[in-house]
Amino acid sequence: MAKLEIVKGADNPILRAMCEPVEKFDDELAEFVDEMYEAMVEANGLGIAAPQVGRNLRVFVVVLNLKKPNEMVLPMVNPKILWEGEEMEVDEEGCLSLPGDFGKVERPRDIRVEFYDLEGGRQILELSGLNARVVLHEKDHLDGVLFVDKLV
Ligand code: CO
Repeated sequence: MAKLEIVKGADNPILRAMCEPVEKFDDELAEFVDEMYEAMVEANGLGIAAPQVGRNLRVFVVVLNLKKPNEMVLPMVNPKILWEGEEMEVDEEGCLSLPGDFGKVERPRDIRVEFYDLEGGRQILELSGLNARVVLHEKDHLDGVLFVDKLV
């Protein structure tokens, strides 16, 4: 059993708050990210953001390159979307905090994201398709935004 329970409900104030930047890149952060990862796996998610386990901190975990040989799990701390491409894509999304709810959301196909790793190192990644979608969905959580706010 994962230690952390998933916060649910489109009107839940924890899910609707603006999250605070992470300031300490310490063992406590690494442990918290591990626990978020466990909660995500247990719930079969592709991503999980801190408010979804009850903490209003700017950190999430995403699965990138799903079902490809280079599939990876990546925590992103204090992420910032540096660039969004002009081309948009519509696809279906769901959310661990809104079980049973699915709907189509339009998002940029390509993005460039800046984030910090668990050691506090600055990273920049260019992502597209599902990878970009998952990151944008989780980034929205840090601003109190849910996919149901953006249905097309
Ligand atoms: Co979500």
